[in-house]
Parts: sequence; C-alpha cells; structure tokens
Amino acid sequence: MTPPALLLLLLFISLAEGHVVQSFKGTCGQFFITDPKDQNNHIPPTILTDNQDPDRYKQICQRYSSQYRYATLYDTQNRIPVYSAYQYTGHTKLKRKTTWMIEPQLDELTASRSMGSESKVDKSKRGNYQALNKDFNSTYHKGHLYPVCHNDNQPCAYATFTLTNAAPQTSSDNLDWYHKVEAKVNKELEKICNTAHIVTGVVPGSKWMKKDNREVNIPSHFWTAYCCTGKPGGPVTRAVLAQTNPLTIDNNVVTVDDLNQKLSSLYGSSIPATGFEVFGSVCK
Ligand SMILES: *[C@@H]1O[C@H](CO)[C@@H](O)[C@H](O)[C@H]1NC(C)=O
Repeated sequence: MTPPALLLLLLFISLAEGHVVQSFKGTCGQFFITDPKDQNNHIPPTILTDNQDPDRYKQICQRYSSQYRYATLYDTQNRIPVYSAYQYTGHTKLKRKTTWMIEPQLDELTASRSMGSESKVDKSKRGNYQALNKDFNSTYHKGHLYPVCHNDNQPCAYATFTLTNAAPQTSSDNLDWYHKVEAKVNKELEKICNTAHIVTGVVPGSKWMKKDNREVNIPSHFWTAYCCTGKPGGPVTRAVLAQTNPLTIDNNVVTVDDLNQKLSSLYGSSIPATGFEVFGSVCK
C-alpha cells in the first residue's frame, strides 16, 4: 500500500470507530447489561430519537487516556446528556480534576476521538452542539451523572470530568444528590455486590441557562438505577427518581420497573411506544 493510501485507510478507521459512534454496541457494549441468554448481547438503555432532527441524540463511547471508560447518550439540542452508563467495580478516595473537558467530535466529526480540552475544537465550531465551561455559573454547577465517587481507579475518575457527563444542578441539589443517592448507593453495593451496572440520567426541564446567545437546558429530574447480576436469587436492583431545585426524591419509585414507567411518560414522544427501559427486560 502506498503511504497516502495507508493514511487514508487509517483516517477511515479512526473515523469509523470514533468516539461519537453510530451504535454503542459495536464499540463500547461492555458498559451495558448483558442478556443472560446471550453473553455477547449487550443491552443499552432506550436510545431517544427525534424525527425532526435525526442527528440530535449522539452516542458517545467516552474515551480517556487511550481507553473507553463509559458511555453517554447526549442531547445536542438541549446541550445536556440523557444518561451515562458505566460498570461499577467499587469505590475509593480519588483525586478530582480541576478543569472540565468536552467531546471534540460533537462539534467537529474529524476531531480527536478522545475527550479533551475545549481547544481541541476550532473556535468557530466550538460549543455548537454541546455545553462549554462558560455556560455554567455559581448558581448552576456542573452536576456529574457518572460521579467521581463511584470509581476505584484514577483514570476513570478523571474521565468523569467531561461536560457531556454533566448537567446544570444547583449547589444544594448537588450536595443532596451526593448524600442521599450516590453515597447511599456505595453503601448498598458494598454489602451486596462487588460489581454492578449503573445508569444515571436527567430529564430536560422548561428552564434554561442563558448567556451570550447560548442556551443550556436545566433538567427537571435526575435519576439513577443499578443492577447487580449473577446473584443466586436473581438480580439485585434499585432505582431513584428525583425532581430538582429543591431535590425531592419520588418515594413511589423504588424498582427499575417503577422508574421505567415514570421515564416513559417523562421522555414522551422521544421514545418508542414500547416505553423507556433502563436495563431492557434483564433487570426490572
Ligand atoms: C446563572 O445563570 C442563571 C441562568 O441564566 C441565572 O438565572 C442566574 O442568575 C445566574 N447566576 C449568577 C450568580 O450569575
């Protein structure tokens, strides 16, 4: 092969397995629950769709320091994620990053396929399809979906610091979500499971952060669910749905099925008639 042909081929390969992918399953299926009848079949949560704008929802295989770390469905119109899905393998105290990254390929398909600083995207295109650091202020923090505290290794903890894994959240909601949900999940999983699949998401609301002709949606709800498979009595699961500002946990939502039903109505027309499912039919 001639060198230019080789270069073209390499470029093609890097685009094909890019970070913004056509389908989670082909590139980073490992972050999703497995069909017990077929270990090779990974089942992502329902992928939202928009008939008016087929490019609106982007599937991101979150890549940091040469490895895939988790997966995010991103809403380029609202400039917030829909959900992040990850494999939980325990937790330990880790360092936080002081700066936040973005997903270069959302704004520029040919850009780096790893998360990176804003400077990875040309200024004219930067932030067209995602939130940037300047969009947030001291009222609305960058609220992690995949949290730092659900990690047992440093690169994964650093990889949570990308704005595609964050949504606007007031500081008191941020603290409450940590104490009432994230830390509790750690305590629960310590007792029952060494590993689990977790998905954490948000529902877009009717308010927006507005600045310099830019808009970022402020979620009406945060939600999360875990499923720990491989247990003799069947999978162990739990789900949480909370309204935001002030954070109010819905006490009627306990099982994944409860959450699936609520999310099916909250996501409305963006999902198929069969409804929203966090873990398919594997964990209910
Ligand atoms: C932050 O942005 C929001 C939405 O644009 C606004 O309502 C709020 O007053 C801002 N807070 C500060 C401290 O500037």
